[in-house]
Amino acid sequence: MKFAKRTELIKSSDTRELLSIIGFDEMISFAGGLPAKEGFPVEELKGIAADVFDRYGYRALQYGPTEGIKELRKMIAEINTKKHGTLINENQVLITSGGQQALDILGKIFIDEGDSILMEEPTYFSAINAFKAYYPHIVGVETDLEGAVVGNLKASIVDYPEAKLAYYIPDYQNPTGKSWELTRKEAVLRVHQKSGVPIIEDCPYSDLQFEGEKVPSFLALGNMKSVIHLGSFSKVFCPGFRLGYIIAEEAVIKKCVLMKQSMDLHTSNFSQVMLLEYIKTHGLEANIKKIITIYKKKRDIMIQAIKDYLPGSVTYHKPKGGMFLWLDLGKGHDSRKFYKKALEEKVAFVAGDAFYLHERVSSGLRLNYTNTSDEDIIVGIKRLGSIMATY
Ligand SMILES: Cc1ncc(COP(=O)(O)O)c(C=O)c1O
Repeated sequence: MKFAKRTELIKSSDTRELLSIIGFDEMISFAGGLPAKEGFPVEELKGIAADVFDRYGYRALQYGPTEGIKELRKMIAEINTKKHGTLINENQVLITSGGQQALDILGKIFIDEGDSILMEEPTYFSAINAFKAYYPHIVGVETDLEGAVVGNLKASIVDYPEAKLAYYIPDYQNPTGKSWELTRKEAVLRVHQKSGVPIIEDCPYSDLQFEGEKVPSFLALGNMKSVIHLGSFSKVFCPGFRLGYIIAEEAVIKKCVLMKQSMDLHTSNFSQVMLLEYIKTHGLEANIKKIITIYKKKRDIMIQAIKDYLPGSVTYHKPKGGMFLWLDLGKGHDSRKFYKKALEEKVAFVAGDAFYLHERVSSGLRLNYTNTSDEDIIVGIKRLGSIMATY
């Protein structure tokens, strides 16, 4: 069999491979991006499932519209109108099978082979892969603690004025946990508005804010002429339902719908009505609050363990929300080598090189703190500390 070139371009994910390892006895994994199971409203959903079959009957199991169920799109439009302070209607909402499908759809509508696209670096591994499948020329945008470095972004746009899009994760980023400052967002938005290169802002973690000021989204600061906004219900509800959405101008949504039709016809109707009825009966806020309480505690336990058990030469970024913490082993270190040693000692994380656009050595690594018990966070960090002493 002769496979397409793209099958060679796409790197396999450490995390995916590790998901099979995670079950191993004694392995403590900070590798995956899994939400805490305590955040899934299982009991409430049992009742809702019964109601759904009573109220919707066969309709919950039938084919549905590619755009998604109208009532849910309306609800998502209303929630986001409040969130971003800008009027959004249901025709500007497409329900996708997770935020991941939104990335694939956008790659499909925007990228022809050889087109330039901009991506902040490091960034979400599966966004790199989703876009790579369409053979773009990917240009990295440097970031610091406050967001994209404006000088570097401007230079990239001068070099690649025809760039088709820029992809950013501005809140509690995957993998670094960093969030963009307001002034930086404003400056970056101005560069994009001037150049006409649209921003795709991917915001699956934005609601998981532990502390600090809420910074408005790019959509709130700008408008749909320059911003496409992506949301997901995976981190605030249940990832297994596979529900996400795209908010964009109607003309963009229409193109997306055409592409989605040939991908999966539509997102699961059953998942959509479960979410619809859950929001109607419970709202999302209480569950988000519960998740935030759990995650903030886990973040604090991890940070205390880092202070207690890792050498002072290691630096880290304290996330103000989200699910990830970025640890830097220091100059000259290769976290990939450390990763191999750590696996032998039954502790897992994702080596930083996985999140870069091109091959390189990284001294950074990503730790997930949401899917490990409080006790195991301490044991896992202790293990990392003793490996560091000998590696
Ligand atoms: C930044 C980012 N975007 C999108 C996704 C995809 O999530 P989902 O498809 O579950 O919505 C993830 C998952 O971890 C992510 O971290």
